[in-house]
Amino acid sequence: MRNLLLGVETVWLEAECSRYEFFLDVIRQSNPDIAIVTLDSDHSKAMQLIAQITTEFPGMPILAVSGRGDGQHILQALRSGAKEFLTQPVVLEELMTAMQRLRRGRTTTTADGSIVSGSGKADAIVVAILGSRGGVGCTSLAVNLGCTLSQDPGTNVALIDLDLALGDTDVALDLMPDYTLADVALNIDRLDMQFLRRSLCKHATGLSLLPHPQQMEDIGLIRDEHLQRVIGLLKASFSHLILDLSKSFTATDLTALRMADVILLVAQLELSSLRNVVRTMLTLSADDALASKVHVVLNRVGSECDISLKKAEETIGKPVYWQIPNDPRTMMESRNEGVPLVQHAPRSKVHQSIAGLGQALCGKSNGKATPSKLKRSFFSFK
Ligand SMILES: Nc1ncnc2c1ncn2[C@@H]1O[C@H](COP(=O)(O)OP(=O)(O)OP(=O)(O)O)[C@@H](O)[C@H]1O
Ligand SMILES: [Mg+2]
Repeated sequence: MRNLLLGVETVWLEAECSRYEFFLDVIRQSNPDIAIVTLDSDHSKAMQLIAQITTEFPGMPILAVSGRGDGQHILQALRSGAKEFLTQPVVLEELMTAMQRLRRGRTTTTADGSIVSGSGKADAIVVAILGSRGGVGCTSLAVNLGCTLSQDPGTNVALIDLDLALGDTDVALDLMPDYTLADVALNIDRLDMQFLRRSLCKHATGLSLLPHPQQMEDIGLIRDEHLQRVIGLLKASFSHLILDLSKSFTATDLTALRMADVILLVAQLELSSLRNVVRTMLTLSADDALASKVHVVLNRVGSECDISLKKAEETIGKPVYWQIPNDPRTMMESRNEGVPLVQHAPRSKVHQSIAGLGQALCGKSNGKATPSKLKRSFFSFK
């Protein structure tokens, strides 16, 4: 339990107690969010302790852990006052889910004390970035959105490069990763938060990157269930998770789309891109949960020969959520130098626009860059 908890960034292990008799004192002395009681060294003492904690600290969420998972055993623990029960050996995901439920269901406690203090933070916002054709600007958006969001001291952002064959987030950030998604997949059976964190490559802006495999032959190692595990774990540890998808609708892409809170469908004001927006939305509309998450983002708005915004919105049958201006020079320089816009050209309109998108996704708006206002300002293009 200790090793598991120490690996989780969002958990602070406040105290450990090896004797049931002293545990109440430990709780009184610290300020707990959750108390964990392992039952197996003395079951009746453990039951008694859980009942005492419940009486003295009625709002305290208690997690009971035992090697015995039979119904009678679980029922006893729950009747004594435990809110959750996990069977040893505890799996990290189950622990994280149980702790989230406990935090959510927590009533206020009037007393001091605890063994584990969670940060109380919610799961990460998961943003999947999906392209309507090659070269439409997904990686530029993923990398720059990640870096700009990382500027806020209250955030920690991870980016997963799911363009498994030809991804280039590492190049865009000028990073030389030691580990990739392939290493994570190879070690999936012993994956814990410490291993996963070691596999991430940190950029100077604070963004953490989990890169695509270096060797193309390793792509086959990564299965959708691996990704599901990785996203689940990172969600509990980061405030934002950005997924740069491939354009092939692979099994891992579909998993990413399903697990995302928001899907940014990137398009440009030209025919083949808009046509693919319609096709993609048609495919995704088979699943209500997916369709409602799609936000169309127009990239490179303002280049010559653009189809008009009005026509584009008529074609796709949905309002455009955000528009990013065309700025080939700044973008190309930033990309070739491997320096994100927030460092390379923080004053550029293209950076400001992506930063505004980040704010909007977080439910914040500076009043200048709300989607509707931005849309109006760009109407003048055509
Ligand atoms: N707003 C923009 N203004 C000008 N150029 C841009 C803009 N956004 C992206 N680009 C340029 O478009 C090119 C393709 O961008 P990017 O690699 O981000 O697209 P992608 O959708 O990830 O491509 P791929 O299909 O290869 O994954 C890059 O050269 C990039 O500099
Ligand atoms: Mg790309």
